[in-house]
Amino acid sequence: MEAKLKNKVCIVTGATSGMGKAIAELYHEQGAKLVLSGRNLERGNQLAKQLVNSIFVPGDVGDATYNQTLVQTAITTFGQLDIVVLNAGILGLGNVVDLPIETWHKTMETNVSSIFYMAKFAIPVLQEHGGNLLINSSIAAFKSFPNHPAYCASKAATIGLMKQLAVEYAPNIRVNAICPGPVDTPLIWDSAKAFDEPEAAVENAKNATLLKRLGSPEDVAKLALFLVSEDASWITGTAMTIDGGILNA
Ligand SMILES: NC(=O)c1ccc[n+]([C@@H]2O[C@H](COP(=O)([O-])OP(=O)(O)OC[C@H]3O[C@@H](n4cnc5c(N)ncnc54)[C@H](OP(=O)(O)O)[C@@H]3O)[C@@H](O)[C@H]2O)c1
Repeated sequence: MEAKLKNKVCIVTGATSGMGKAIAELYHEQGAKLVLSGRNLERGNQLAKQLVNSIFVPGDVGDATYNQTLVQTAITTFGQLDIVVLNAGILGLGNVVDLPIETWHKTMETNVSSIFYMAKFAIPVLQEHGGNLLINSSIAAFKSFPNHPAYCASKAATIGLMKQLAVEYAPNIRVNAICPGPVDTPLIWDSAKAFDEPEAAVENAKNATLLKRLGSPEDVAKLALFLVSEDASWITGTAMTIDGGILNA
């Protein structure tokens, strides 16, 4: 079967861990050339070594010029840009009363402003030949979690931004979001720290899904592949949940 992303040039943010890493690996399997983004040098360099036709560019997605560098790297290294997966994210845990104002801003910068920055620099390039933006949002866009005010607000904002971009840049650029439920990555274990008994919180999240398991990064990567591929050529402006049924439980 023909590779679904043959010679497509993709930027994947948050590629050094969890879902971003699984997405990068699956896109690579499907023929993509990759610009990998993250801050952890060891994990980023290791992944770039593992994936032929990939380059790791370390930096902070909350920095506008870093997003511009990622786009420029795609052009200078691979000659084009087709797909951007906006996956990097942090939790910014703490209730509103105790949450430091800096943590609020950092969470908004990492989870939302980064998407605005990347869109600003990537869209003019994507418009030339058509392309895709895919945002990793969360079910936290629709459902509240204790001690996650910055996270819930930021993830809801990503859906608003996704819809706006989808309208403004159709038909050349498709823009979608995925909204995972509890997925077994380092982030869910950090998220559990917001509860009195973290281990029990992860177990409860698993049991609260209709399918009685946590998602795997690979489960999410398959949806991330579908949405940027030609198989999804009539899908834009959509926030697709992938949550083991937890929102409907
Ligand atoms: N796990 C879940 O249950 C779940 C559910 C719904 C949605 N999500 C969302 O899915 C996305 C991926 O999360 P994950 O669960 O795979 O978590 P993860 O394993 O903790 O990965 C997070 C990634 O984001 C990168 N990152 C964080 N802040 C960054 C910054 N300022 N600049 C550059 N890179 C940054 C990290 O890179 P470095 O470590 O190299 O800095 C890492 O690669 C996030 O947006 C998260 O909100 C997760």
